Amino acid sequence: MRRKLVVGNWKMNGNRLANTELLAGIEAAGPFVADVAVCAPFPYLSEVALALQGKRIAWGAQDCSSHESGAFTGEVSAAMLAEFACKYVIVGHSERRAYHAESDQLVADKAKAALAHHITPIVCVGETLAEREAGQTDAVVKRQLSAVIHTLGHCIPQIVVAYEPVWAIGTGKTATPEQAQAVHAVLRLQLRAATPKSDDMQILYGGSVKPDNAATLFSQPDIDGGLIGGASLKAADFAAICRAA
Ligand code: G3P
Repeated sequence: MRRKLVVGNWKMNGNRLANTELLAGIEAAGPFVADVAVCAPFPYLSEVALALQGKRIAWGAQDCSSHESGAFTGEVSAAMLAEFACKYVIVGHSERRAYHAESDQLVADKAKAALAHHITPIVCVGETLAEREAGQTDAVVKRQLSAVIHTLGHCIPQIVVAYEPVWAIGTGKTATPEQAQAVHAVLRLQLRAATPKSDDMQILYGGSVKPDNAATLFSQPDIDGGLIGGASLKAADFAAICRAA
């Protein structure tokens, strides 16, 4: 039986006081049946790690370099994250694919770099509205995941996949449970062709998940939790979503 996982992606938000209050609020609302993690901006990671030490809430980063070390100004390596016992790292978020021209292969290489340091990559895939309206949704997400499958090989069961339709991120336009499940089923089939362990792998949904839609989304057979943006910045909302998983 797959465990449910709910991950908060804080994106470029927060400050030291707000982070402390947010973490205290989430902690106070627990414990949760689902596995829960928060992914904070780089400058705050060691403080978040300290605040969550010994707690059931895990933490992660929002990106990592595909390189081990060297002349890559501004990048953060998986080795550096691993020094602080980072558990997860989001790779290939649509905002990074769009704003930083991250290719499918670069995302795959980032996932490989994370695994090399025992950090679980949360690999994001998802189509734009134009791609969906052109009937290209399945082809897009399969192409994005295919690069990861070919790069990771037998290590593929060690990743988490997140389906985040770009048109649902931050828009309030959540995919319907049926729309989300349909794409998750396609991803599950693709993973099944790559590994016998596909049924143990977690596929998260992200894109305007809120307390009032989380339970219906998470009840779908191939939706194993969520990657939460805006709602993860409010302790009560994020806790409600974690309870729905
Ligand atoms: O990574 C999760 C994020 O992209 C979803 O954002 O604000 O639609 O929950 P939001």
